Amino acid sequence: MSSIGLLMVVVAFASTDCQLITDENEAWAFVNRVNDESQEVYFKSIQASWNYNTNLTDHNSQLSVEAKLVEAAFEKEVAANASRFNWTAFQNETLKRIFKKASDIGSASLPEDRLTKLKVIESELERLYSSAQLCDDDSTCNNLDPGLTRILAESRDYDKLLWAWFGWRNVSGRKMRNLYKEFVNISNEAARANGYADTGEYWRSWYDMDNLREECQKLYEQLKPLYLNLHAYVKRKLIDKYGEDKFPSTGQIPAHLLGNMWAQSWGNLYSDLLQPFKNKPSVDVTEALKEQNYTAQKMFEVSEEFFTSLGLIPMPEEFWNHSMIVKPDDGRDVVCHASAWDFLNQKDFRIKQCTDITMSDLITTHHEMGHIQYYLQYKNLPVVFRRGANPGFHEAVGDVMSLSVSTPKHLKEIGLLEEVVDDEESDINFLLSQALKKIAFLPFGYLIDQWRWSVFNGETSPEDYNKKWWDLRCKYQGVSPPVQRTEDDFDPGAKYHIPGNTPYIRYFVSYVIQFQFHQALCEAANQTGPLYKCDIYNSHVAGNKLSDMLSLGSSKPWAVAMEKVTGNTTMDAGAIIEYFQPLITWLEKQNEGMDIQWDEACPTDLPVYTLPTQSPEPETTDPTGTGNVVFPNISLLIVLCSCLFALLKE
Ligand SMILES: *[C@@H]1O[C@H](CO)[C@@H](O)[C@H](O)[C@H]1NC(C)=O
Ligand SMILES: *[C@@H]1O[C@H](CO)[C@@H](O)[C@H](O)[C@H]1NC(C)=O
Ligand SMILES: *[C@@H]1O[C@H](CO)[C@@H](O)[C@H](O)[C@H]1NC(C)=O
Ligand SMILES: [Zn+2]
Repeated sequence: MSSIGLLMVVVAFASTDCQLITDENEAWAFVNRVNDESQEVYFKSIQASWNYNTNLTDHNSQLSVEAKLVEAAFEKEVAANASRFNWTAFQNETLKRIFKKASDIGSASLPEDRLTKLKVIESELERLYSSAQLCDDDSTCNNLDPGLTRILAESRDYDKLLWAWFGWRNVSGRKMRNLYKEFVNISNEAARANGYADTGEYWRSWYDMDNLREECQKLYEQLKPLYLNLHAYVKRKLIDKYGEDKFPSTGQIPAHLLGNMWAQSWGNLYSDLLQPFKNKPSVDVTEALKEQNYTAQKMFEVSEEFFTSLGLIPMPEEFWNHSMIVKPDDGRDVVCHASAWDFLNQKDFRIKQCTDITMSDLITTHHEMGHIQYYLQYKNLPVVFRRGANPGFHEAVGDVMSLSVSTPKHLKEIGLLEEVVDDEESDINFLLSQALKKIAFLPFGYLIDQWRWSVFNGETSPEDYNKKWWDLRCKYQGVSPPVQRTEDDFDPGAKYHIPGNTPYIRYFVSYVIQFQFHQALCEAANQTGPLYKCDIYNSHVAGNKLSDMLSLGSSKPWAVAMEKVTGNTTMDAGAIIEYFQPLITWLEKQNEGMDIQWDEACPTDLPVYTLPTQSPEPETTDPTGTGNVVFPNISLLIVLCSCLFALLKE
């Protein structure tokens, strides 16, 4: 059907000469026809990608790559036909915007051989990350989820943490270095074919701002004092736990001690190490979820109920039928990193999440469902407008819900907390637990794409990939590698969004604007108390406001969308600072008279680490010869080889 449709589009213009078409009615007819067809083309490609992501086999990879090539050929054709119209002179702004978006086709602009290579590399990077396993000396093997994630969250044994932290980087990122280098080259070729200097510039273009970098820097500088104070408080507690000798004299915190594989969110340290007032009830509901026998299904239902309480759209039946909300136990490799899918056929919306029964995963469920809500709200718009107002908006929706859901009052209302104490100390407890998620993340969210932008524009060459990564981590996050890293390592690859090729500045943007949205929706919901106590549950007024913004998709510039909710048209850190104000005051007092800075540079005198040895078994030793890591399975090797063969064939 789609190929016949393609032909029609081509035939329709066979008779026109090279004069550009100015008739807007004709343009609308073209747009409508292309839209129907694109739904079918995208559906097939997304379905193939879903099949691969939920079952990482060589066969499924091939089918997914093939479908992506069909999709790219379609986009190329559409862009070519769109260029027959004099669209930049159209009167109707909506029409003009549709043409603009349809003309911006990303990697589809590559010649077929390069495109194939790019898609194969992307597919392989995804698999390398998602099927990586770290085996211990009993040959028990851990995937990232749930195994290594749990170790990082729960263990307080310095050496065990180091083993998991180091081992994960050894079996994941380290294997991607060369592929990633190749990926950067081809990805830049695509950007240049579209008229951008490099892929970073292309990604930044999605924000319709000339000064995205400067704006983010400004926001970051505004929030930095809060991060410095949090960092200093947490570092002191960790020194109490692990001993001063484990900490570098440069002032950073060793990166494996923060409860998370990338030290990007520190909430897992809250209950046992960081809660300021121990005699007040904890606000972490992980234990309650377990005691009450929560399942993934129940967590998803609780999340949906929050959305519907605001009068928003419930998850459709297809969602419940086809989502993957627990990790399959039939031995298949899947991409566990949580994601939300719009199949672009206006019916099929799914989440893929290897849900663990924890508070952190309950928050993730809300986050992913926020994406689905956005999809549902804009599903009747033309396909090219089924995007967030900017990528940060998309990441913010579910998090806005979580800001209400996480309040002690709400958690009590849904039976996850037994008692809520309303006093200053309890407020500080709560705000600190929130800061460990929201404030701790800011420098991480800010630095990832600084690394990638500098890689794409050539400022950072492949010989400095890992060094640059750590320069940024030490400088901004104030975390340092616990042991020596070299340019044989590729630590960026140990974070999903690098092999998964998902831009990251969106999360930084989201962490700022979600507080602006929260503030505005709280006002709409007539919540008059402090911002951090606000719960918009059951407020249809707030829900309607949000819906007004979401249903615009990307049909209008993001400032217009933002105005629907906040009445303002700029990103602003004022709301997040207001939210955390009592904590800021408290932390400043805790840190009074102390040096809360750290050196920009990483420590230089780090020890060398080798994974603990085990009795050698020749057929299972790591083929790269580094460390004693059992290679996951032989079929992956075969697949890798056949993939490399495919790459070399060209
Ligand atoms: C995974 O994909 C393979 C094809 O590569 C297929 O044979 C198998 O049935 C799939 N497994 C599941 C559980 O869908
Ligand atoms: C553009 O055209 C559409 C369809 O004809 C119409 O509904 C819309 O109001 C027009 N927009 C503007 C800004 O003129
Ligand atoms: C969902 O699954 C149920 C039970 O298998 C089935 O009866 C129903 O038709 C399915 N609905 C959709 C929309 O796929
Ligand atoms: Zn997301």
